[in-house]
Amino acid sequence: TGPKRIFSGMQPTGRLHLGNYLGALKNWVALQDEGDAECIYCVVDMHAITMPHDPKALPGAVRAAAAAYIAAGVNPDKSIIFAQSAVSAHAELAWIFNCVARLGWAERMTQFKDKGGKDKERASVGLLTYPVLQAADILAYKATHVPVGEDQKQHLELCRDIAARFNRDYGDGQAFFPLTEPVIQGPGARIMSLRDGTAKMSKSDVSDNSRINLEDDADTIARKIKKAKTDPEPLPETVEGLEARAEASNLVGIYAALTGKTKAEVLAEFGGQGFGAFKPALADVAVEYLAPISQEFRRLIADQAEIDRILAKGAERADVIAAPILKETKEIIGF
Ligand code: ADP
Ligand code: NA
Repeated sequence: TGPKRIFSGMQPTGRLHLGNYLGALKNWVALQDEGDAECIYCVVDMHAITMPHDPKALPGAVRAAAAAYIAAGVNPDKSIIFAQSAVSAHAELAWIFNCVARLGWAERMTQFKDKGGKDKERASVGLLTYPVLQAADILAYKATHVPVGEDQKQHLELCRDIAARFNRDYGDGQAFFPLTEPVIQGPGARIMSLRDGTAKMSKSDVSDNSRINLEDDADTIARKIKKAKTDPEPLPETVEGLEARAEASNLVGIYAALTGKTKAEVLAEFGGQGFGAFKPALADVAVEYLAPISQEFRRLIADQAEIDRILAKGAERADVIAAPILKETKEIIGF
């Protein structure tokens, strides 16, 4: 087996929010800082065109995603940061994998069932083969580990199925592609909407008040937390008391994640107090935590040439890894 290699990516659609940070980016940085693996963090702009998109807005969205990665702590001197469309191995390998994966596998993916809407006649074929492109993203680098949320587990299983099928059909039984392992984020990393504690905090929510964006300023963060939906009860003394209280549980969870405390520790401090006391404390913590990230984000985004330079260098480094793997894959299948 080869070296430990980590691959992950996010779409360049919209602004990144606290859920993206606590559920993904924070973990990317931790994996980078563990220092025992090469980390490849991609802005997956080819995935972004599977749904209707604005070509004029795409380059700026790619830069914004890259800036958010860096602002969150991904170090472009250590990790590889680049745009998917800049490295042709992704598209080339995706085609080969389209011919390895079975139609039934793709049609089983729940994300296609959800995102494709009711009338599948109108969905792009790209949306159907999205997880195949994802497998190409991962296997172009023979990545051994992929940090993903629970919702992406099924796609990673498809990636393993494709690798296994390729190895069986063409690899003479040899493990040419690895069976990539998920690094699953626990449910604790799932941040819910401020408007409704049972929906995921998401960029697709029409209400901006439902989420805290990485670039929100201090006043905006404080205002959104103040407006966050809660029940009228004071905070419970124990974690069990959060059970049927989704909004309270979410806010306590955010406080815990931002301070590195457990929910129990947060409740030891705030149990018995009302949200009138807890919300300002949470706002302070969120502002303090996010201020350096949003400041760095704004600094980076103002220097377009610098981000383009980082993305170009990242694409070069990515290509150095992917090109020989693609070349060998093509030889194996007879190109
Ligand atoms: P969104 O739901 O805002 O469209 P994506 O689905 O593009 O975000 O997810 C990008 C990354 O951020 C994924 O790794 C996903 O697991 C993570 N993520 C998104 N929303 C949340 C959330 N509310 N809580 C935790 N992680 C999240
Ligand atoms: Na989403």
